Amino acid sequence: MYKFLAFLLFALVTITDGIICVSNLVPDQIRLAFAGDNGVSVGWHTYACPFSSKNPNPNPTVIYGLSPKALYSTSINANSSAYDTRNILKTSWFYSVELPNLYPSTVYYYQILSSSYVSTSAILSFISAPAVGDQSRTVNIATYADMGVDGLVEDIITGKHLFERALGALQKILSSVDFFLHHGDICYADDLVSGVFKTYEEAFDYCQTMMTNITSSRFYMTTVGNHEINCTNAPILNDLCSSDHKNQIPYSNRFHMPSKQSGGYLNSWYSFNYGFVHVISLSCESDFPNAPSGNLIDTITQVNWLKNDLTAVNRVVTPWVIVQCHRPWKGSIPLDDIIEGGFINCPSCQAAFEKILVEYNVDIYLTGHVHWYERICLNGTINTTNYVNPNGPVYLTNGVIGNPEAPNQVLASLRCWILLMPYLLSTGIRTWPY
Ligand SMILES: [Fe+2]
Repeated sequence: MYKFLAFLLFALVTITDGIICVSNLVPDQIRLAFAGDNGVSVGWHTYACPFSSKNPNPNPTVIYGLSPKALYSTSINANSSAYDTRNILKTSWFYSVELPNLYPSTVYYYQILSSSYVSTSAILSFISAPAVGDQSRTVNIATYADMGVDGLVEDIITGKHLFERALGALQKILSSVDFFLHHGDICYADDLVSGVFKTYEEAFDYCQTMMTNITSSRFYMTTVGNHEINCTNAPILNDLCSSDHKNQIPYSNRFHMPSKQSGGYLNSWYSFNYGFVHVISLSCESDFPNAPSGNLIDTITQVNWLKNDLTAVNRVVTPWVIVQCHRPWKGSIPLDDIIEGGFINCPSCQAAFEKILVEYNVDIYLTGHVHWYERICLNGTINTTNYVNPNGPVYLTNGVIGNPEAPNQVLASLRCWILLMPYLLSTGIRTWPY
């Protein structure tokens, strides 16, 4: 009798799963990243069946090829993961696969295959990276930090949809962009007001879903910001931040950067090549002495990795070296200004990284965190028109693309090294010149 009841229950759950799930499980949040010199990572997200935490796609697979009608190759190194998203109605699952051994500078088509209750994706496409060292054409990189979803209150106060406006601006330039560098604070899922009107996961899911058109056609390379490392941006909500929203667990599940191929760690630090450019992505949140957000491993592994990675760069092959990290240490803001419980500038980042970047002649250091745009030369030297072989990295801060927080006050008149501030403040309304 008990066996029969158990069987009946199992059958009911299975049938219920089937009935509910047949309705609408789709791969979404599709995103591309480099995976070594000849590889591409395809990542995506799917909700599990309602009231179930079971992986709806246990064998994630992408097929790809040189024509939309000839997707003959199959992905490798599949990965599925989930974490406590605190939503019993729909557990999130995150997937990644790799497309290896691609021809350089070639249009590829790809499609995520269906599985159980999950449908196939549309057939999408990307252009693979040029061969390492290829200097036959320019490389166009879209770079920024600090983009995220608005909360309801922000919409009322500041006008509608800064995030959506930022996406619209990116969409306009998409055809001319080779890849994106997003230097942290990726979706603002943990901001106070967003937290009130959207849960952390809802905000992150909405943000990434809205970005799919961009991230499924261009490589979207991220680094961790303070809004990704811990769910603690709003101190009042610290105690509500679950253990699975700390230690960059959502960020580690939702993105797949090439740390494995470059000897790095998670999505925290890694590097890749694109033609004649070598890009290094660092964590300005963790893993160096006095790091603002503590350590995931220790205080020396990332710093040693950075030295080793730079030592291995052949500047004849990749003469340009670009570093992205979330926090600046040079800029017009006073060094001791404090927001969000910490220094705006990051003296501990400077102590850990600056000497190394100067020693190895890094060309550009890209950051955000501060909500404006400025770029400077080493030691504040005014160099408004000439960036040919400056005597140190050009420090470029761009954290003003669009997010629910206010732009920071720029003290332009106090400093001489600001070159450009492409935003306006008028009548108390935040506006951006898109
Ligand atoms: Fe930040």
